[in-house]
Amino acid sequence: MMNISAMNEWIEAFEKNGFYEWPNFLDQSSAQAIRLEIENLEAQERFKQAGIGKDANAHINNSQRSDFIHWIDHRHPNQAASVFIEKLQELITQLNRNFYLGIRDFECHYTHYPPGSFYKRHVDRHKSGSSRIVSFVFYLNQEWIDTDGGQLCIYAESQTVATINPQMGTLALFLSEKEHEVLVTQRDRMSITGWMLNEKIL
Ligand code: OGA
Ligand code: MN
Repeated sequence: MMNISAMNEWIEAFEKNGFYEWPNFLDQSSAQAIRLEIENLEAQERFKQAGIGKDANAHINNSQRSDFIHWIDHRHPNQAASVFIEKLQELITQLNRNFYLGIRDFECHYTHYPPGSFYKRHVDRHKSGSSRIVSFVFYLNQEWIDTDGGQLCIYAESQTVATINPQMGTLALFLSEKEHEVLVTQRDRMSITGWMLNEKIL
């Protein structure tokens, strides 16, 4: 468990900024196990090109985003993912306790950005049917350096307020209404990407 001062730090920063970069959210070997799970799924061709928009409006638009995803059944996660999901559930409890966000569920997928891919500036909280309250991305890439690209940029009033490298074990947490972008990556970039929701999903 994290100690009290570490706990206060993220709560204060999240309250002030609406985002938080959390290094070593899981230990390296737990993160590495999830990375291996993703590589196995990739080898079995279980990833699909990601779309944009919801349900009937969903479509693939390579000029907006070019990542590949595999949805996680978070009520029946495998061994590797369950370590992350337990920690995430503790985090949701803390968020509800401190900010009364009314988070009732979450959804998440494994994500692979191959070299050359990106996700242009967007928000995750859509005006119609906006059940996405807080976005999270858990990164799974060893020894990322600035020139590898693929940073997550978060914006406020058209200024960049955060540039986050997708480093193994780092969790990025931000309000889903915030504008953000994934810069073009030069390397394979793996993560778990998800959203905390204010309603239960089936
Ligand atoms: C998304 C997204 C950010 C990231 O999938 O909606 O913004 O850092 N991902 O992968
Ligand atoms: Mn997003």
